[in-house]
Amino acid sequence: MSRKKIIAGNWKMNMTLSEAVKLVEELKPLVATEDVDVVFCVPAIDIIPVVEAVKGSNIAVGAENMYFEEKGAYTGEISPAMLTDSGVKYVIIGHSERREYFAETDETVNKKVLKAFEHKITPIICCGESLTQREQGITIDWIRQQIKIAFLQVSAEQAKTAVIAYEPIWAIGTGKVATTEQAQEVCKAIRDCIAELYDEATAETIRIQYGGSVSADSAPELFAQPDIDGGLVGGASLKPDFGKIVNYNK
Ligand code: PGA
Repeated sequence: MSRKKIIAGNWKMNMTLSEAVKLVEELKPLVATEDVDVVFCVPAIDIIPVVEAVKGSNIAVGAENMYFEEKGAYTGEISPAMLTDSGVKYVIIGHSERREYFAETDETVNKKVLKAFEHKITPIICCGESLTQREQGITIDWIRQQIKIAFLQVSAEQAKTAVIAYEPIWAIGTGKVATTEQAQEVCKAIRDCIAELYDEATAETIRIQYGGSVSADSAPELFAQPDIDGGLVGGASLKPDFGKIVNYNK
């Protein structure tokens, strides 16, 4: 079965409103293709102008985070309905920076994943090991644990539509991209884990990205791997390079 690749930019805490609109205008022609799904995950305050700026293009807009409650006394948080009402289609959940700096856990990740599905927002569910864990040889066990908890109570029908981003923490923002063998090995292990939790059909349908210092140079080989269905791109998504990454096979 052939899965459509999905290439998402993660802007992180970059781009003021005016910078955001300028960047979208610059990137729009560079990422114009129907061959892959293109997503810009942007800071909350940039969502509305970016949704406006991508109108009529192939670009979908995602958020970088979301809270797991419907509404109420949660100062500073953003609800799923606020996102869908603004035109958001995707949400990054459980990025390692959120886990590290904002105390997110596998349990809150699971709550957010369930809430995203409830609101028909596609979650981009992040997992990844630290350098110590890799050196200890516990990468696969760790990732399997993260995936199993993230997907608790998620139905097979929902899981089929999910996106998983495998991002080794030691490769994020470091310029130290995982080797294609390392990336493929873990993405395959994630797919096997989904097959165990659900079935082969779900495992064959779910899309698994690699993230961590993806560049125009590394993208073609990474995305050619059988279990890598695209990328979650940080630094390079803020540059014209993102156009090259999206067009990795041309
Ligand atoms: P990077 O970030 O491409 O800058 O390493 C990836 C990510 O954190 O999603």
